[in-house]
Amino acid sequence: MKPIVLAGGTGSRLWPKSRAALPKQFLALTSDKTMLQDTILRLPRNDVSAPMVICNENHRFLAAEQLLRAGIKHDGILLEPVGRNTAPAIALAAMLAAKAGDDPVLLILAADHLIENHDAFEQAIAKANSLAQQNKLVTFGIVPSEAHTGYGYIKAGETIGNGFSVAEFVEKPDAATAQSYLDSGQYFWNSGMFMFKASVYLSELKQHRPDIYAACEAAVSATEADLDFIRIDQDAFARCPDESVDYAVMEKTEQAAMVSLDAGWNDVGSWSSLWDTSNSKDAFGNVSVGDVMLEGVTNSYVNAEQRLVSVIGLDDVVVVETKDAVMVANRNKVQDIKSVVNTLKAEH
Ligand code: GDD
Ligand code: MG
Repeated sequence: MKPIVLAGGTGSRLWPKSRAALPKQFLALTSDKTMLQDTILRLPRNDVSAPMVICNENHRFLAAEQLLRAGIKHDGILLEPVGRNTAPAIALAAMLAAKAGDDPVLLILAADHLIENHDAFEQAIAKANSLAQQNKLVTFGIVPSEAHTGYGYIKAGETIGNGFSVAEFVEKPDAATAQSYLDSGQYFWNSGMFMFKASVYLSELKQHRPDIYAACEAAVSATEADLDFIRIDQDAFARCPDESVDYAVMEKTEQAAMVSLDAGWNDVGSWSSLWDTSNSKDAFGNVSVGDVMLEGVTNSYVNAEQRLVSVIGLDDVVVVETKDAVMVANRNKVQDIKSVVNTLKAEH
């Protein structure tokens, strides 16, 4: 199987550490390795070929350097001149494999997840692989713990092989719908990792989103290899619609299957999820990173990059200090950072 690592997201909810020039997948947030490095280093060794990384043109040297430093042998860094979300990114990788005369099973990985139990992950990959060999588009389902509206939801159908057919896939439902899914006990979260044959993905994409298929086909018709980097036709790709694989294919296909994944998965979507998953909380439930002084503080996350940060008498706060920005938020409101970032983008 061939890993395809999607590393083109913006990670805006982890501002002010995650920036346009340095999005979260290139940061070391959960270990001493960056999230991109960890994504590849945790893969099983057997039957896994060299990964391809897909990222934005602007981040090419970051990606190349991080792979080199971690001693990762890869199969090229595919550069997107503009981000068009995950459905086109995966299509490019699948089409390049087809152009090379191969039809590998692709293991699509987000570059910004935390997975604690590597053995359980490996077992889930093996189960997914056998379903992918049967021409299924396989998702990895997580037992949900809250009515999170930032995830896809999968309703498991009948048993097939070591997994289930997908009775329904709903991307980012509204809060009431997410709550009803949680209450029903029949839904899983979509982890955002997938496994399928390149040819199976391409035929489903062609059927459900011929516009994306055609734009990507035009974009790979003129590829150029330049050292580690693979470049595509810029103008053709700019014309591609922007859509995630979840909406473009997974909600629509009849061929979806799911294996469950119980491996300490977390998508590190926000500062509060970093607090949640930390194994280094003090006796008051605080996580401190860097030069931090706390007094009378509980259940908080404080990250100091450049200066000493002192917090007194507060509960449930997130403080993140960097060279040029400081962010202070209620731990339960950190999702709203996205709107701060959008305002900043509009102003600059
Ligand atoms: N190459 C490339 N190009 N990668 C991209 C692009 C792009 O244009 N856009 C996003 N990515 C990468 C991100 O860096 C991340 O690793 C992955 O693709 C997923 O993108 P997100 O933007 O983080 O997706 P999401 O979190 O909103 O939703 C997805 O993940 C959830 C779980 O974390 C969906 O698959 C949901 O269904 C799922 O529940
Ligand atoms: Mg995400």
